[in-house]
Amino acid sequence: MQNNNVRPETMERITTKALADAFIEEQIKEVRAQVGDKKVLLALSGGVDSSVVAALLIKAIGRQLICVHVNHGLMRKDESENVIKLFEDGFDANLVYVDATDRFLDLLAGVSDPEKKRKIIGSEFINVFADEARKLEDVDYLAQGTIYPDILESFKQAEGKKAVKSHYNVGGLPEDLKFELVEPIKLLFKDEVRVVGEALGLPHEMVYRQPFPGPGLGVRCLGAITRDRLHALREADAILREEFAKNGLAGKVWQYFVVIPDIKSVGVKDESRYEGWPAIIRAVNTTDAMSATIEEIPYSLLHHITYRITHEVEGLNRVLLDLTPKPIGTIEWE
Ligand code: XMP
Repeated sequence: MQNNNVRPETMERITTKALADAFIEEQIKEVRAQVGDKKVLLALSGGVDSSVVAALLIKAIGRQLICVHVNHGLMRKDESENVIKLFEDGFDANLVYVDATDRFLDLLAGVSDPEKKRKIIGSEFINVFADEARKLEDVDYLAQGTIYPDILESFKQAEGKKAVKSHYNVGGLPEDLKFELVEPIKLLFKDEVRVVGEALGLPHEMVYRQPFPGPGLGVRCLGAITRDRLHALREADAILREEFAKNGLAGKVWQYFVVIPDIKSVGVKDESRYEGWPAIIRAVNTTDAMSATIEEIPYSLLHHITYRITHEVEGLNRVLLDLTPKPIGTIEWE
């Protein structure tokens, strides 16, 4: 393991499979030397970084790695199922699945302030993960999908620069859980993580998938989250993703998703009054997420998506398009 948090200037950028293979071999040796025959715990969200760490550590130490997948109830449609399937079937992972949907949604009920929501989701994630960690014996190490931009961000925050939103990724476990960290990709940039991920045998679509925030659909189901509106959001988002994939936009647009505000408008369905929420489509392009431009989506596709969302998803009666760049908007609405 590198003890150093600074990327050496001499470190070659990992752009090819051969370079990725060499990096993987080197990390396998380092991880084995670091952990020996001890167990390692990893919060596996299914995002690119934690997935790459899981695949790498399984290669290095097999079932000594215990992956814990926490479903906070704010995942996209079929997401948890897909993570489990990929890692249990494809990698023979030692995986613990925790469905904590009720814990999260009960705590979030009635909470409309965006920062409070983020804090609740972040801290409950740690509580659930810590509960699972305490059930396990002889675990000495915690693996994390820290990547180099996370380290650069923490340098910035140490200099006193304030973040716009309180992002969360795992960290800050309670005092009684003292683990030594294993961070095999902490000196890599995102593009390198993806190259390494593919070299490890992770599917292309998963390695190149769009970013998904830690608090998940929680920051897209605006205001106080209710189960019915969250369900509508999950279904509408699945339709949007399916249509973007079918129409060749999935690999082209950096991030695209649906947001549902807590407002209803009057509509008409089967000749009767039909009150429903609007689905807001957001599709943006960026290189660093600090600023973003709007992707132009063909009107014919927007009409089709609108038809599908309003006809297939219970509770939605309008579709709107968000044309706001960042700045002035942020990418997520909360
Ligand atoms: P904003 O909304 O700040 O988002 O323009 C910039 C990028 O960050 C993602 N995002 C998060 N990622 N944990 C994450 O790992 C979070 O809490 C979080 N919140 C926002 C967002 O999806 C966008 O890609």
